[in-house]
Amino acid sequence: MKKVKLNKDYSQVDKKSCAFDVSRLSELLTKGRKTLKPSYLKDKDLRDAYIHYYVPVNMYKILVPLRELAIHPSRIFEKEMVRVLDLGSGPGTAILGILDFFSSRGKRPYLKFTAVDPISENLLETERLFKLFIEKGNADASLLTIKSTIEKSKSLIEGSFDIITLSNVLSEIAHRYNQKIRRRINLLKTIINRSLTHDGSCIIIEPALRDTSREMLEVRDGLVEEGFNIYSPCLMNEMCPALTNPADWCHEDIPWEPPEIIKEIDRITGLRKDSLKFSYLIIRKDSLSIRDIYDNKSFRGNNSFRVVSEPLISKGKLEFYICGTGGRRLIVRLDKDSSMTNKPFETLRRGDIVSFEHTADEGKRLKLTKDTTVTKIVSRFILTGTTHSIY
Ligand SMILES: C[S@@+](CC[C@H](N)C(=O)[O-])C[C@H]1O[C@@H](n2cnc3c(N)ncnc32)[C@H](O)[C@@H]1O
Repeated sequence: MKKVKLNKDYSQVDKKSCAFDVSRLSELLTKGRKTLKPSYLKDKDLRDAYIHYYVPVNMYKILVPLRELAIHPSRIFEKEMVRVLDLGSGPGTAILGILDFFSSRGKRPYLKFTAVDPISENLLETERLFKLFIEKGNADASLLTIKSTIEKSKSLIEGSFDIITLSNVLSEIAHRYNQKIRRRINLLKTIINRSLTHDGSCIIIEPALRDTSREMLEVRDGLVEEGFNIYSPCLMNEMCPALTNPADWCHEDIPWEPPEIIKEIDRITGLRKDSLKFSYLIIRKDSLSIRDIYDNKSFRGNNSFRVVSEPLISKGKLEFYICGTGGRRLIVRLDKDSSMTNKPFETLRRGDIVSFEHTADEGKRLKLTKDTTVTKIVSRFILTGTTHSIY
């Protein structure tokens, strides 16, 4: 496939001043998040810093939920047309990721995008980057932009959508109000009920910071209580076990080779973007789930788990945190219990979905025995050359 270069003028970018603005922006989006003003991307320097640094980092994150939807047996994306509503589009980050995802697939639907953002400069950038992709890339698509907050967009958005995205925007909604979680739940409930098709997917992506990720999980639980279904990453619709302990949260961490501009800015600022870290959620009105990929086959859902930690290696044992029906558990294999059937345990990584047959339940943790069979059912997402094509 063709490689699309969206920012070929990187050589012209003054790296030092860009790095300075990336540092300012990073500070605002982390320590300064509580007092973040809604208009921060009106500042041209911050907006340029966002485009040069955060767009290439953020746009590939959406490939993870899209890939998890695409592998469902009901062939979710095999349609003539896929309508996408990107709420809080910024410079069109999620739209670029979606274009990249579909342009690398054999049979491509027509993509009809609507981008909503309250900042007109962001929408102009969305239009510019979208146009660049369409001119140089491999996609049949249209774009409509709407200048509005999500809260006020009701009368402006027409029709229903197969995909609704909120990429790095949920934690900016009502963040200075009381009852912000309830407000976000109510807003999402209204949007999903009104604007998502009966078989559509609402994809939420948030930074992997503890606070933003936990707030997303609280919204998740609220939506589950309202009767919505979590397609992924969760393998169950129970309350999220990560919220039990205030120190816990749930996130992805996917290795990638950053573009040269990111490496250079990282060298100057001391920031690190050598992996894609984020939290995500796919919400649906119907009952489809990533579990459908394996539930009807030889794997029983209750023995299947998502790996939610890095490998925890200590003397004489290997452990992981896993999450599935019944909540989050620690699972351990003592080195002395290594066997042919449990050997795949050594290759597990955060994000994998795995099945365990014949474990010993020790209450606090599950333990592998020599008789345990470990089967990796869905491997975590790997960002390869063909999926990573824009920058
Ligand atoms: C961190 S940026 C994310 C941009 C892009 N979606 C991404 O993933 O890179 C947050 C965006 O949300 C927009 N935003 C903040 N509050 C919003 C609201 N209430 N309604 C719509 N957009 C909002 C901001 O203008 C900004 O463009």
